[in-house]
Amino acid sequence: MMTSYEQARRNEGMWEMDHAPYLRSRRYQGQRCDDHLPALLIITTSGASSQMSPIATSATTNGDSSPSPQHRVPLQLTGILDDIPFEEITPVIGREYTTLDVRDLLKDPQSDAKLRELAIITSRRGVVALRNQSVTPQEQQELTARLSLLSGTPEESGLHIHPVLNGQRDKAYRATGPNGEASADDTISVISSNFRKKTDDRLAQIQGGAAGEIHSDITFEPYPSDFSTLNIHTNVDCGGDTVFYSGYEAYDRLSPAFARFLEGLEGRYAQPAFQRMAKEGGFQVHAGPRGHAANVGGDLSATHPVIRTHPVTGWKSLFAVGAHFESFPSLRPDESTLLRAYLLDQVATTHAAQARVKWQDTSEGKSTLVVFDNRCVFHAATPDYFSKGGHRVGTRVVSVGEKPYFDAGSISRRDELGGERYI
Ligand SMILES: [Fe+2]
Repeated sequence: MMTSYEQARRNEGMWEMDHAPYLRSRRYQGQRCDDHLPALLIITTSGASSQMSPIATSATTNGDSSPSPQHRVPLQLTGILDDIPFEEITPVIGREYTTLDVRDLLKDPQSDAKLRELAIITSRRGVVALRNQSVTPQEQQELTARLSLLSGTPEESGLHIHPVLNGQRDKAYRATGPNGEASADDTISVISSNFRKKTDDRLAQIQGGAAGEIHSDITFEPYPSDFSTLNIHTNVDCGGDTVFYSGYEAYDRLSPAFARFLEGLEGRYAQPAFQRMAKEGGFQVHAGPRGHAANVGGDLSATHPVIRTHPVTGWKSLFAVGAHFESFPSLRPDESTLLRAYLLDQVATTHAAQARVKWQDTSEGKSTLVVFDNRCVFHAATPDYFSKGGHRVGTRVVSVGEKPYFDAGSISRRDELGGERYI
């Protein structure tokens, strides 16, 4: 039986076009993936290519629509993590594990298969909160890099160096290295409430209002992020939650006619605030390469689709939202401003498409590590503890993914799952 959404798509003549090529092409193409970490470290430090691609790429035919050259065959869950208890945070977005230990996972004999499964789960659920962790920044790096590579990210992509949030700019914000020293590895960003307090007024002016917090990491890069991991290892006693917003659900709530209009648009993604911060602060924006040979220079802007196809799930997601999204160049400026505000408002006010993660008390040495997929999720910090005081600190690692693309033959999350399945 068709869902009401599918019926609407059929009435528009879209359902068959959406499904037929997709269903023909949907199969799993897992391949052996050995010795991945040395390759990842090469990518991380030099941006150079490494030796393997774990998932084959494939193109589909799509009637009169050609597939994007970047098209990848979506990945299938295997069930290898199904014995580990979890809770879905909401029907649409978010999952939480309390007993899935990252350190054990990295050393598990079936580590590659389990990490690939965790990556697919994250891409389908958007965000996964892993409670009760005890990981070093270097283990967090390994986790992030392997999630990315094992789920098919092109071999040219590595871990991102943030243009501003890196240890070169300020040694006070370096993570702890493997021997307790201050790490010089700039692919680890220290997320600190003290730094945030220093910059918050300036950012608030630039971004404007509470909804200005909403963003997807580094969409101003030509090759933006697939996964981010955030581990808050020092927490305040109350507040500082992070809210996540589903781009899949934002797409699924569009009318078919409006969805088709947006699918034909490209957007300009940019973050000029970092250059202004650098100028005022007397430091240089990191010129790169920042996790990919194409992510270089101080311009910090890129052109991407407004609706993108997620390569792991094959689902469409709204992408043109948030603090790093600027405009729709093919529209008149007043139309662009209006549409940008409308889409942001839809994401910010649709609480059924949101999951709120409360970071756990870290006083006993255990922390919450969150993995989220920037291709289908937006997020926002909640600076509600600033007036009370306290110090909230964590480490963030961001992996770079593929160049965003849109395939007209792809379907949406609701097309595949209907209203009944969560994943
Ligand atoms: Fe972020």
